[in-house]
Amino acid sequence: MKKVVVFTGAGISVESGLPTFRGSDGLWEGHRVEDVATPEAWLKDPELVQAFYNKRRADCLSARPNHAHLKLAELEKDYDIHIITQNIDDLHERAGSSKVLHLHGQITKSQSSINPSLVYDIEGAEIKRGEQCELGSQLRPHVVWFGEAVPNMEQAYKLAREAEVFVTIGTSLQVYPAANLIFETKPNCKLILIDPNAENYNVPPVVHKISEKASVGVDYLAELLAK
Ligand code: APR
Repeated sequence: MKKVVVFTGAGISVESGLPTFRGSDGLWEGHRVEDVATPEAWLKDPELVQAFYNKRRADCLSARPNHAHLKLAELEKDYDIHIITQNIDDLHERAGSSKVLHLHGQITKSQSSINPSLVYDIEGAEIKRGEQCELGSQLRPHVVWFGEAVPNMEQAYKLAREAEVFVTIGTSLQVYPAANLIFETKPNCKLILIDPNAENYNVPPVVHKISEKASVGVDYLAELLAK
């Protein structure tokens, strides 16, 4: 089976009702997103950070996978599809994709604030003050904040190097090291980019751009893969 690696960002979940980070005014209740998604913010105001992610978790839980997530899951019938996602929602999994690598964590899980390898499922939508890991530290969201290492990056580079087709969907490619993945692919790898804003991307000319929203772009992708 042809190995197809699909790298997704916030844009793929827009049609499920979850906003992108850089599309709107970039603010959350008057705070820059970067100011609530850092270890410094957690040290300064853990209640604010927890409230931000509790709200986002509730939004994710009530969202449903859209046609783009579902189509990628369906394509597993014919291709060896691997998803690498920057998204912290679980819409790829709920759509039925079986190989999903999360680069920036998972909103449905918590982690110890002193040992990031201690990860737990969250019951419901909230992490509450006083909820602790087994070492006695306050639980925090299992997300990779700005300035933190990306533990799954090596695995993602390996997948990118093995890809016969590498597809990028709904990411502004502004956050590193994730945005480097496309440059790890081998020379004969077919590169496809789906984004309504694709024409404005500064990527190598060999990249096949599909200037569509994700739900439309995935049907073009299916046609390209079948050729
Ligand atoms: N379908 C596909 N793409 C879309 C759609 C849609 N319906 N609507 C918007 N987009 C595109 C935008 O054109 C933009 O290029 O989705 C992209 C979203 O970009 P960002 O908001 O920057 O999201 P992303 O690239 O996933 O952000 C990367 O930054 O905030 C951090 O850790 C967070 O994982 C996140 C990372």
